[in-house]
Amino acid sequence: MAVAAVVLAAGKGTRMKSDIPKVIHPICGRPMVAHVVDSLREAGIERIIIVVGSAAKQIQEVLGSELEYVVQEEQLGTGHAVLQTASVLENHDGPLLVIHGDTPLYRPATLRELVHSHQDSGAIGTVLTVNVDDPTDYGRIIRDSTGGFERIVEQKDATPEEAMVKEINSGTYVFECASMFSALSRIRPQNVQHEYYLPDVLPILREEQGKVQIFNHGDDEEALGINNRVQLAVAEQIMRNRVREKWLLAGVTMVDPATTYIDAEAVLEPDVTLLPFTFIEGHTWIASGSVIGPFARLRDARLGKNVIISQATVLESSLEPGCVVGPYSYIRPGCQLEEGAKVGAFCEIKNTVIGSGSKVPHLSYLGDTHVGKKANIGAGTITCNYDGQEKHQTTIEDQVFVGSNCNLVAPVEIGAGAYIAAGSTITGDIPPGALGVARSRQRNIANWAKRRRSRKGSPKKGS
Ligand code: UD1
Ligand code: CA
Repeated sequence: MAVAAVVLAAGKGTRMKSDIPKVIHPICGRPMVAHVVDSLREAGIERIIIVVGSAAKQIQEVLGSELEYVVQEEQLGTGHAVLQTASVLENHDGPLLVIHGDTPLYRPATLRELVHSHQDSGAIGTVLTVNVDDPTDYGRIIRDSTGGFERIVEQKDATPEEAMVKEINSGTYVFECASMFSALSRIRPQNVQHEYYLPDVLPILREEQGKVQIFNHGDDEEALGINNRVQLAVAEQIMRNRVREKWLLAGVTMVDPATTYIDAEAVLEPDVTLLPFTFIEGHTWIASGSVIGPFARLRDARLGKNVIISQATVLESSLEPGCVVGPYSYIRPGCQLEEGAKVGAFCEIKNTVIGSGSKVPHLSYLGDTHVGKKANIGAGTITCNYDGQEKHQTTIEDQVFVGSNCNLVAPVEIGAGAYIAAGSTITGDIPPGALGVARSRQRNIANWAKRRRSRKGSPKKGS
């Protein structure tokens, strides 16, 4: 029997004090609820139904259209949320795993074990529990005199004695589907919060249908539920450690793991070296032999083999093998550095191609520019790509030599092999092989300084 899963993600998340829906808050750059879905998928669960509320559209955008969505119009509690899936699960006769969208730390192996344990035990319902030092906010597990499951009591409904219990409900369960829905239709919101509590189905199942099993899982870290930003920060730490460990074991060197931040979706090949204070964000891909940092930030960047990036920021750009960037440079979205290209110190480039072997060594701004192969862009070259209304293109063909401190007023084309004299402001195209000079000619006035010094009535000091 195939296992299906329901993910509860319709809650408002008021304790986050945020305009962003709780389950979309990122952990290692990936929305919280996406981590839950990843774990379910890795655990081999193919059918996944997400219960969404007012943030339905945002959640669907994040998770994609391969999943099923059910809308809970009013947030009347976790039991009410699961009830919304009754019609889509009408014909499902296998086990049903229910999990919260705000518990992103479960490992796939744990979910698999939970399902197996449920199936092996013959229980109607199995609840995953953990023991924690501080059970604040969680539902407490109340066991009967034989140590079996009796009921779950929420913090707000608990007596002082019940509140002392340190075994908590993780919010993850496996049910026999039809039995669960039949019990669910009978729960009532008779509690402090006037909500339909999903945990209330368990005593009904126990009394009417037979066995309810407690699956106590030792690792309380995995069950962490995120209700506020303190818990979000704790989850971030835990997830970061896991991601770092994964890449260290896969052959990546991190000189100082504590100051190396890698998002969940980044991909690193063996023999990548990450130096301290480095941020690898989004869908960044780094091929082997590359050395990144210190103080580098890459977001959605694609790097070939043996790229060197020091103290630089690279956003949404791709760098072919052997490129060198930095220090102190800013590669903005839409750039492509071909093999062996260099963008040195204090440069900014945007929506620009730098051809293979070309160099932009110092203090330049290139925007909307195409640089061919083996060109040299002198220090202080600026493309004037914006006329206040529109952006214009600059084309610099192969083997062009741009002298220092030039302005290239776009749109403009510099033909292959051309030279531009230092200090030129180029406003028209330069044919291949020509020299473009666009600066006023120098003149020297002989003995000027001496005459200046001997001039009568020269201004007094300080005036
Ligand atoms: C819930 C459990 C508690 C458990 C804890 C584990 C209930 C009544 N309480 O408490 O026993 O220890 O999780 O983390 O189940 N949601 C909906 N629709 C709703 C209400 C909630 O989809 O109407 C979703 C939320 O988006 C969230 C999840 O259900 O992802 C849990 O809701 P939350 O309000 O965070 O419950 P807790 O107070 O944490
Ligand atoms: Ca919660």
